[in-house]
Amino acid sequence: MSKIDIDKYFKPNLKQAKKRTGDQVEAVRFELSETHKTIGSHKTYQIHTYGCQGNEADSETMSGILEAMGFVKSDVEAQSDVIIINTCAIRENAENRIWGELGRLKQHKLTNPNLVLGVAGCMPQEEYVVERILKKYPHVDLVFGTHNIHKLPYYIETAIFSKERVIEVFSDQGSIIENLPKERGHQKKAWVNIMYGCDEFCTYCIVPYTRGKERSRAKEDILKEVHHLVNQGYMEITLLGQNVNAYGKDFKDQNYTFGDLLLDLDQTGIKRIRFTTSHPHDLDLKTMNAMKNAQHVMPFFHLPVQSGSDRILKKMNRKYTKQSYLDVLKELKKCVPGISVTTDIIVGFPGETLEDFEETMDLVKQAEFEGAFTFVFSKREGTPAATYPDETPEKEKKRRLYLLNQLVNAQYLAGNKRFVGKRVNVLVEGVSKYDDQVLSGYTEHNKLVNFKGNHHDIGKIVSVTITEAKTWFLLGEADA
Ligand code: 5AD
Ligand code: SF4
Repeated sequence: MSKIDIDKYFKPNLKQAKKRTGDQVEAVRFELSETHKTIGSHKTYQIHTYGCQGNEADSETMSGILEAMGFVKSDVEAQSDVIIINTCAIRENAENRIWGELGRLKQHKLTNPNLVLGVAGCMPQEEYVVERILKKYPHVDLVFGTHNIHKLPYYIETAIFSKERVIEVFSDQGSIIENLPKERGHQKKAWVNIMYGCDEFCTYCIVPYTRGKERSRAKEDILKEVHHLVNQGYMEITLLGQNVNAYGKDFKDQNYTFGDLLLDLDQTGIKRIRFTTSHPHDLDLKTMNAMKNAQHVMPFFHLPVQSGSDRILKKMNRKYTKQSYLDVLKELKKCVPGISVTTDIIVGFPGETLEDFEETMDLVKQAEFEGAFTFVFSKREGTPAATYPDETPEKEKKRRLYLLNQLVNAQYLAGNKRFVGKRVNVLVEGVSKYDDQVLSGYTEHNKLVNFKGNHHDIGKIVSVTITEAKTWFLLGEADA
């Protein structure tokens, strides 16, 4: 076998990715060339998505581009002409699943040598990942990162016609691409990117390296997209960004931030506005007041806290304390009475003592979170925390995670119980997996409700009286 020249590709560079030059971020308009419009005729594709809502939205863009090129989504993996794995790098176990998946997909290459197998998303932004694919996964044809999805037509063209391996990952601050086609996964709910990247550099997190500098889309482009969604019959939007509370802080020519955007979106006719994810340090009064005054912003807030210990929060570079977090929360609850708040928590951060963990448990109780995504710290190569001494045994970390989950689940149930006997509005998404007489959907507070109803209510907002609360969902009866 000939030696692979691994230096000829555009590969990622974590040091480069950390640089924030502050240059004007480039805004680019996507256009599909005539020759690219037919490349996918009579061909099919699949996209396998891992990770956060940002990746789900990116996959909708990749689907949109592939469909504009003539490809059709395939139900049968083995018969697909293009398979793209949109990857997540946030924790090691997410990556391990993906390595397993890549190994498994090799079988299709044996039966269909023309298959184009691509790896996209956050993992290729890591140096070691691209080296490993080059050396150990020769059946992968295409590798690209988070900054160059808009170049997919060129990559597919090269992979199909010249049969060359395409590897192109940029480690720059990133640009803003408009006019991207989207094949949305849902008919009533849509993701709307309002910003890209993250400048927070929490010491455990790989995202600022994989997703580039914080850069906000122009409000005109966001409003245009939402007006278009309203005209198409969409009822709910979820605004996406790694730190939506920093929206607009990069605008040099105007003072327009997240609170302003919420108020403008409130006037578009969209019935429900949600957003994710937030950073407590950037959550300002203007946003809370906008939530109070807007008619369509939902009474739900996902506000990652990560830890309740001031010592650990400092080592994480989170820029707030337990008390200042609780103060922000108090203000939020004052502005939006009855709001439901959820969070993200990491246990077993390097150097976390039992006392630190107790502080986290105490904060969870005081904050009355009604849900949390909980994680054991995962070492991410290239981040500062990867070099911190970490003496807590894995078994002890798992024990802490267990105790935390017990508490979170009890509060989840308590949060659900407060709706028993109440009337709630449910956006009906479909029928239950277990019983096609039962419809399910989400309330304004983002609670899942199952109730008996008519299929013609799917896609509508209906009034339901809650009869019973379970840990993970509510049961109810449709109001007449
Ligand atoms: N280890 C464990 N959890 C992490 N998160 C981010 N990076 C890591 C890591 N290295 C969690 C944080 C974040 C969520 C999306 O993932 O809680 O809010
Ligand atoms: Fe990661 Fe922190 Fe940015 Fe969230 S705010 S994406 S945890 S660096």
